Amino acid sequence: MLSYLALRHLHITCVVITATLFIARGVLTLRGCDWKSRWPVLRWLPHANDTLLLAAAIGLALTTGQYPLAQGWLTVKVLGLIAYIVLGTLALKRARTPRGRLAAFIAALAVLAYVVLVAIMRSATLGLL
Ligand code: HEM
Repeated sequence: MLSYLALRHLHITCVVITATLFIARGVLTLRGCDWKSRWPVLRWLPHANDTLLLAAAIGLALTTGQYPLAQGWLTVKVLGLIAYIVLGTLALKRARTPRGRLAAFIAALAVLAYVVLVAIMRSATLGLL
């Protein structure tokens, strides 16, 4: 079993990679580039990284004894992760118009930034309430 610090490093590294890959794919999509055919690595690497991110998250929950539903901020992180995935799919694939894709891209980045702040502050309301 990996130590708490190793899991935390892994989790945070995966967060940085997920954000970088999402921004790269989002910008390429908005510019009308067919990145799926040009760089097949961009199709599978994000999935592999996101699986690792979630595995590290589960490992962290188990090692620190903090669980979604028991800790409000962790519940919000899980919901935020789902919202990020849905908005991300809209931005990269499902939205029908360029405007829709841009709106979904910005919303997905906003959700990601919120989840990072929730994690750092360990508070769903970011310590404001
Ligand atoms: C897009 C999704 C996610 C992002 C951006 C994210 C981000 C982060 C960041 C930046 C930290 C380090 C916070 C710090 O110690 O300063 C962290 C820690 C943590 N995350 Fe995530 N996370 C995500 C998903 C999840 C999910 C789904 C879970 C569910 C179990 C989770 C569980 C944890 C736990 C348990 C910690 C350690 C808290 C502690 O040290 O006490 N994360 N996360």
